[in-house]
Amino acid sequence: MTSKVFKLIAKEAHRQKYGLEMIPSENYVSENVLKALGSILTNKYSEGFPGRRYYGGNEVIDKIENYAQDLAKELFKVPIALVQSYSGSPANQAITMAVCKPGDVVMGLTLSSGGHLTHGAKLNFSSIFYKAVNYSVGDDWKINFEELETLAKKHKPKMIWVGTTAYPFKLDYKKFRKIADEVDATLVADISHITGLIIGGVHTSPVPYADIIMTTTHKTLRGPRGAMILVTERGLERDPEIKGKIERAIIPGIQGGPHNHQTAAIAVSLEEALKPSFKKYAIQVVNNAAVLAKELGTVSETHLILLSLTSYGYGMGYQAQYALEEAGITVNKNTIPGEPASPFYPSGIRLGTPALTTRGMKEKDMIKIARWIKRVLEEIRGLDLPKEQEQRKDFLNEAKARLNKNKNLKQIRKEIEDFAGKFPVPGVD
Ligand SMILES: Cc1ncc(COP(=O)(O)O)c(C=O)c1O
Repeated sequence: MTSKVFKLIAKEAHRQKYGLEMIPSENYVSENVLKALGSILTNKYSEGFPGRRYYGGNEVIDKIENYAQDLAKELFKVPIALVQSYSGSPANQAITMAVCKPGDVVMGLTLSSGGHLTHGAKLNFSSIFYKAVNYSVGDDWKINFEELETLAKKHKPKMIWVGTTAYPFKLDYKKFRKIADEVDATLVADISHITGLIIGGVHTSPVPYADIIMTTTHKTLRGPRGAMILVTERGLERDPEIKGKIERAIIPGIQGGPHNHQTAAIAVSLEEALKPSFKKYAIQVVNNAAVLAKELGTVSETHLILLSLTSYGYGMGYQAQYALEEAGITVNKNTIPGEPASPFYPSGIRLGTPALTTRGMKEKDMIKIARWIKRVLEEIRGLDLPKEQEQRKDFLNEAKARLNKNKNLKQIRKEIEDFAGKFPVPGVD
């Protein structure tokens, strides 16, 4: 008898094929990545690192992990690559443990400016066990380097994060390096969102500037969920012991046995990223985002768009995410810099082009998609978030019930299903 799970997977496959996946941190992996991920490698325990395992029977696993490390080193031109972190957050924890002692000062971009939880957000390990100091963006939504420099000089951080989750502009690593040097801090680039763009040459590489680099493997890189930690020549010079420190932070510091099926799938995705076709993909991701942003009345220099909805009303992010989902477009609500409403019911949405581009969509398709998005957003006008907190829950339930019945959204959903269904999805078609 087949598992009930496969019926649910089939439902999810339908959603992924007939909708428009626009969450900028998501992507579609290839059939080969799926094959490696679903392989018998999941059966094996391999605590330790290649050539230094706690368990026997790891001859093949060693070869796979060494191969993944070699591919990462080749792709990024770095001397050290580690591929065992289960995901981006534990990888960032491992880096922090390797570089800092508990209580040391760590600086990162604040969450509300597009930073990541692990870069010093309240309630995260990075501010529970370390002294987190956050810098932010200015009125132009760009990194405020003046503030960053002042804070760095005042707090003398051990480590500075440069990395973003909701930032539509290119990052100037050189400026970060200069400030890190002024206070003798380790500079860590978290390139999770933009790895693919860096590989494709459409975003500056942090390799000449950062000491350590972390990337998730499941976003623009188009691999399985996972992460890689890279040490640059500069980082190795700064601390020749850094590799062992990071390894010890991974295991026994944080993790147990590595996920070998994941390591193998990372290797497959790195093979794919080394091909010339990947460069074309990255260029198209950025071109698509630029067109989409322009059509929506904003700008993007990367793969993502942070769209303010203040012209549609007060606190419209939640309503927009819901209405777009009803129409078959998946995005996420997001705070905008200087958020005027609430972190839970924010004023913007975050959307991007990596997944759509993998399906083969181009600029002309972005124009169509922007039209659908604008038509959907018209349907939320008047659904402003109540200013009184106690009224919000009931109001949003009513708003959702109204959007569920909205005929225009149903019509748009039909149009989108017809459109999206024509673009293949690896592993589904
Ligand atoms: C910049 C950045 N760093 C780290 C992470 C954490 O990755 P994960 O969700 O795999 O733990 C993310 C994920 O959103 C991210 O965007």
